[in-house]
Amino acid sequence: MRIEVLDDAAAVAMRLADIICEAVQTKPDARLGLPTGNTPIAAYMELARRVEAGAGDFSRADVFAIDEFCDAARTTPGTNTMFYREHLAIRPRALHCPNPSAEDPAAHIAAFAEAIRRGGGLDLCVLGIGRTGHIAFNEPGSARDSRARVVALTELSRAAHAENFGSLDKVPSRGMTLGVADLLESRAIVVMVTGAHKADIVRAATKGPMTAEVPASWLQEHDDVLWVLDADAGAGLTAKSKE
Ligand code: PGA
Repeated sequence: MRIEVLDDAAAVAMRLADIICEAVQTKPDARLGLPTGNTPIAAYMELARRVEAGAGDFSRADVFAIDEFCDAARTTPGTNTMFYREHLAIRPRALHCPNPSAEDPAAHIAAFAEAIRRGGGLDLCVLGIGRTGHIAFNEPGSARDSRARVVALTELSRAAHAENFGSLDKVPSRGMTLGVADLLESRAIVVMVTGAHKADIVRAATKGPMTAEVPASWLQEHDDVLWVLDADAGAGLTAKSKE
């Protein structure tokens, strides 16, 4: 596990854009898992700028969502489908996102994960982490061997999406997610985290025991994982190393 602590969120966004561009330079038909959330937005803007300027080319790359809400339409504001439409203007060969209105979401997300596996897996999976330590929608309690499935979202996670859906009561209570085991099958993983409110969970995930209570801690088992943090998110690590 490697950890880079950069000055600020802007530096994290640039670093992330560099890493994602490098992945498609090395392998133009790379298969990328890209997350939603507030953290990656600046990096996605930078990537779009590079594509526009001819400095990045995703036309042969496939992008995969790693989770989606259930019980919503593809056009419902707040869904991950809408997030990609709004924030990810990199023109990949294809963007694969689970259908939030799938009638049988359990079968749908299992087939989605199986299609990723059959296609050769993800070359690079970018992840954010929630304050509960979730990765994708793998909330606390998610086992190391958990697979793609339907999950009940925690109130904290639902609250984090209230603004995008318009209000808390509009946020679905269920989501579909790739499982921890699915995510760990990615050839390389990059976790990006910014903000002081994530410092404690970053410390628990990287320095604490591997436990289902902190799903991001399972990433310690992967042999090519890079954490890219801003100084605020990395504050817990720095304080410890000075002890
Ligand atoms: P955020 O979400 O980037 O909006 O903080 C991260 C996550 O919940 O995975």
